[in-house]
Amino acid sequence: MVDSGAARTPSVTKAVVPAAGLGTRFLPATKATPKEMLPVVDKPAIQYVVEEAVKAGLSDMLLVTGRSKRSIEDHFDRAYELEEALTAKEDWDKLGLVRESSELASVHYVRQGDPKGLGHAVLCAAQHVGDEPFAVLLGDDLIHPDESLLTKMIEVRERHGGSVLALMELDPEEVSLYGCAAIAPTAEDGVVMVTDLVEKPVPGQAPSRWILIGRYVCDPEVFDVLRRTQPGRGGEIQLTDALKILARRGDVRGVLFHGRRYDTGNKLDYLRTMVQFACDRPDLASEFVPWLRKYLESVEQ
Ligand code: UTP
Repeated sequence: MVDSGAARTPSVTKAVVPAAGLGTRFLPATKATPKEMLPVVDKPAIQYVVEEAVKAGLSDMLLVTGRSKRSIEDHFDRAYELEEALTAKEDWDKLGLVRESSELASVHYVRQGDPKGLGHAVLCAAQHVGDEPFAVLLGDDLIHPDESLLTKMIEVRERHGGSVLALMELDPEEVSLYGCAAIAPTAEDGVVMVTDLVEKPVPGQAPSRWILIGRYVCDPEVFDVLRRTQPGRGGEIQLTDALKILARRGDVRGVLFHGRRYDTGNKLDYLRTMVQFACDRPDLASEFVPWLRKYLESVEQ
């Protein structure tokens, strides 16, 4: 059944990609380079994120950037000198790679002068987004390109209205590191009602094993709530705190995700991501995988 609220609202066309965090877990690499620009094999993490949004049908990207984020803007812009040099060499493959990121979508920027939290970063998008539903994709959180999580979330939003969160199941002992959702079943397979949210629950007191990952489809109502949201954990304005208020009103659904997700914002998961993506790449795997196997044998001895 289509909720009457959804029928009146426009469809989702805009994506907001927060990329203004300080990236302190990745220092010193992130002193002058945003963590979203760290490469996963040969592409910066944020390009995978923008490609995912484009694949889900979103054509308007707003990247929320901050200090030392010029390289993000340059990456999604034309690079005339490089393009001329590659044209002179008739290196059409590399020219295609250079142009790809500047031709992906219509990319806009807003600066978050002071990184006062993810909720504050999303609020910086209010003027650009206006009164439309929008997707939020964290710039350091990758979903495998073969997954269709965001497409499914947008479908749920278009059927029911409200906001939609991506949820992933973890072992109970890991849940306290994340935002955790209290959930209730719906008639739809893989879709739940999110009845409450708890940021980093005390071990043993989590409402479920389902945690928030970096994909959201938000009703524009979230901006009004964020404007009234006081700084929470770490003195930051938390997106989870605003979504919690919407959840308690009965306006938030969750899509249960069982696929491949990679957090590139911390060193260990970044390394895991790099190795997995390299093993998946047809142009690298035939040499990289046997080398890796041999290397592991040598360190295990
Ligand atoms: P994180 O909490 O992982 O980012 O935010 P961080 O604060 O940069 O990381 P550490 O803890 O210091 O290492 C998740 C996403 O939200 C963005 C980040 O850039 C990242 O993509 N973010 C976070 C903002 O855009 N603004 C903020 O104020 C905070």
